[in-house]
Amino acid sequence: MELREGNGEGIDTWEEVILIYNAALKMIETRMAILNDEFQHVHQYNPIEHIKARIKTPESIVKKLKRDGRESTIENMIKYVNDIAGIRIICSFTSDIYRIVDMLGEQRDIHVIAVKDYITFPKTSGYKSYHMIVTVPVYLSDKTVDAKVEIQIRTVAMDFWASLEHKIHYKFEGDAPEDIKTELVECAKMVTDLDARMLKLNEEILTIIREREE
Ligand code: GTP
Ligand code: MG
Repeated sequence: MELREGNGEGIDTWEEVILIYNAALKMIETRMAILNDEFQHVHQYNPIEHIKARIKTPESIVKKLKRDGRESTIENMIKYVNDIAGIRIICSFTSDIYRIVDMLGEQRDIHVIAVKDYITFPKTSGYKSYHMIVTVPVYLSDKTVDAKVEIQIRTVAMDFWASLEHKIHYKFEGDAPEDIKTELVECAKMVTDLDARMLKLNEEILTIIREREE
């Protein structure tokens, strides 16, 4: 989060940090819900299946700062931990991901400060997802602050894969047996294939419906 007047200024307590990031999460969630409703109205279709939002626990914020060799100060949290506020947007089809990315980019007061396209360039683990770090203005009674939010956008199938992989990663403390890693990469390929087939199927269905309506 960056204060308009300068970094970390005026934010002294952990409670205040939580308050601000909670507000930022609510902002993004509401914006997404509005876009989804509008899309439903115009195209009779919802690009978003569901949204999950979370605030990072103090323990994992401290852990991350420590990992990066930084002191646990409020200022460092705000400056270096980009995912204190995190939103995961789950959609049905790969095409929806880019639709959502474009819609977010067009919101005047949401600033995209970084993107990572792990859909076009998946991680070696097989992980696929579109990541954005954005800032949203949070209007408080005496000041306005721009708070960072990490947005992860992925399909239902990618989410299914990522949650199991995360569990395995956690269980083995990042050191899973080779055969399990290989199997996960195989499953990731199946996810990619499934997403492509489901997208094609959906397009075929839409074509049939359109032809019938004519
Ligand atoms: P961190 O500093 O660890 O947050 O990584 P980063 O700054 O390089 O960010 P990146 O965009 O690569 O990852 C951010 C988040 O994406 C992670 O906290 C996870 O939630 C998710 N993620 C990234 N890679 C993987 C992966 O291989 N598997 C799973 N399950 N999730 C991942
Ligand atoms: Mg992270």
